Amino acid sequence: MARKSLSPSPLLYPTPVVLVTCVDGKGQPNMITLAWVGVVNSDPPLIGISIRPERYSHHCIEETKEFVVNLPSVEMVRGVDACGVVSGKEINKFDLTGWATAPAEKVTPPLIEACPVHLECVVKQTLFLGSHDLFLGEVIALHVKEEVLTEKGRIDMLKALPIAFSPGSREYWSLGSVLGHYGFTKGKP
Ligand SMILES: Cc1cc2nc3c(=O)[nH]c(=O)nc-3n(C[C@H](O)[C@H](O)[C@H](O)COP(=O)(O)O)c2cc1C
Repeated sequence: MARKSLSPSPLLYPTPVVLVTCVDGKGQPNMITLAWVGVVNSDPPLIGISIRPERYSHHCIEETKEFVVNLPSVEMVRGVDACGVVSGKEINKFDLTGWATAPAEKVTPPLIEACPVHLECVVKQTLFLGSHDLFLGEVIALHVKEEVLTEKGRIDMLKALPIAFSPGSREYWSLGSVLGHYGFTKGKP
């Protein structure tokens, strides 16, 4: 089959889409939509978020060294997109979306009530990579709405309904069906 060579880019798909909350030096909250996000270590639990230096949220996180990763559900997709095309420097995105907030347990940035999962993070390292700066955040508190948990205390994807992003086509997708589970080829239950 013919293959086309494209110019090199970090084309991994899908990526998660998250809403990161942060505060400025005066404690004013903001939120930003991010797709350049990933798990980078298990113990200590570390999440990497890459943000362009010109973003207002970059300035907030650089100053306060704290952020919360909120995982949105599919019904939040309009607000997710809106928070990714306007800046908190000019507009209050909580008024724009109408989303309520709740206090976090260990950091100053708030939780977005509508999201089922929240990871409270403190910045451990910042790497200057080029177009983006990578903030490595240690997860110091994790909150999950009970209604999206299975009886075994795991995330039920059919209830959490995460949004997947396709960087190439710049589309938001929902997930399909379950294909198997970790270790099923070894007969693990
Ligand atoms: C789906 C989507 C994903 C995005 N991912 C990133 C990202 O990973 N890093 C980044 O710097 N900006 C990303 N952006 C752009 C920011 O969300 C956008 O510039 C936002 O308006 C910045 O807000 P702020 O100035 O209030 O921080 C993304 C936007 C969208 C719509």
